[in-house]
Amino acid sequence: MRVVITGAFGFLGHRLATTLLQTRTFGGVPIERLVLADRVVAPGPPVATDPLVDLVHGDLTDRLADIFAHPVDVLFHLAAAVSAECEADFDLGMRANLDTTRALLEAARAQTAAGGPVPRVLFASSLAVYGAGPGLPPPAAISEATLPVPQSSYGTQKLICEQLIADCTRRGFIDGRVARLMTVTVRPGRPNAAASGFLSGIIREPLAGLPATCPVRPDLAVALSSPRRAVDGLLCVAQAERGTGPGRLEGRLPVNLPALTVSVADMLATLRQVAGDAVADLVTMSADPAVEAIVASWPAVFDNRRAAALGLRPDPDFRSVVQDYLTDHPDAVHGTAPAQPARRTP
Ligand SMILES: NC(=O)c1ccc[n+]([C@@H]2O[C@H](COP(=O)([O-])OP(=O)(O)OC[C@H]3O[C@@H](n4cnc5c(N)ncnc54)[C@H](O)[C@@H]3O)[C@@H](O)[C@H]2O)c1
Repeated sequence: MRVVITGAFGFLGHRLATTLLQTRTFGGVPIERLVLADRVVAPGPPVATDPLVDLVHGDLTDRLADIFAHPVDVLFHLAAAVSAECEADFDLGMRANLDTTRALLEAARAQTAAGGPVPRVLFASSLAVYGAGPGLPPPAAISEATLPVPQSSYGTQKLICEQLIADCTRRGFIDGRVARLMTVTVRPGRPNAAASGFLSGIIREPLAGLPATCPVRPDLAVALSSPRRAVDGLLCVAQAERGTGPGRLEGRLPVNLPALTVSVADMLATLRQVAGDAVADLVTMSADPAVEAIVASWPAVFDNRRAAALGLRPDPDFRSVVQDYLTDHPDAVHGTAPAQPARRTP
């Protein structure tokens, strides 16, 4: 089996690659080659030198021939430009998120048309496909049956890609699956250009002994997931057999990955409990209406029955999310060792 991850040296792509290299199987079948594709390859991560791995370095649209040089059985499509940069630069978002995905789908379709295996494609979408339009208040709890009304270019691009994947699946070009991620927190390393970046920054920076600003009102509720649960969700949706009943993936609708709903005030209170007053006092409230407009347009409360049927559960509470971070990144905590080096964001 040949498995490809796009965006493989990003936050979640790298974690996914690490997990697959531990099990060395997908759905119980041995992985023969794991192709890690990204335009930024971080220097020297162990995944890059694993004998199972082939690296494809460069912009995806220039490297499709390498990715499809041999049949692709499974493709995790994670490469994307993030929310705030798509809002700042419309053309960048259209290129990075829409044009690239369309080109990948065309290449996958060509493989099928040539008699190769029908590639299983897992697309990482986002809760940003949802939002409240004027005169269209969202229901109390969002499910896959809720009409997505994105309020950002990023959310719109994700929604278009979801629909393309569903249609390519209906036509038999691919076996497409869509997992909608909640905001994944705590992201290690340096801040990125996502509007939701502060939801990691207000925890990560103080723990590293650095000041952080919180740009939204404290009572704003958000839908979160730890990196561990997010990667578990991507793998589960990708590996599920199609069909009805527990553990099976029914139909072509996306799966909203489980959400832990917390307020920003709850997050800061948890930081205070876990790390103490001196650390929590490093966070300053400083309103940024542009950031709040994007993040507050995303729903916070989900009805996750579709994910639960696949066996997926949200993080139990925000304390466990912080504790996972401390366990996974002991070097990123003040007084131990320097925080991770900067990575260039797309
Ligand atoms: N992290 C979150 O909270 C979150 C929430 C919702 C959805 N998602 C989605 O999950 C996916 C992964 O998120 P992440 O946080 O790991 O993102 P990330 O920004 O950390 O990683 C994305 C990677 O994709 C690469 N990339 C982007 N465009 C590329 C291109 N044209 N060619 C080659 N490589 C390219 C970047 O270099 C980067 O390494 C994305 O699709 C994102 O939209 C993430």
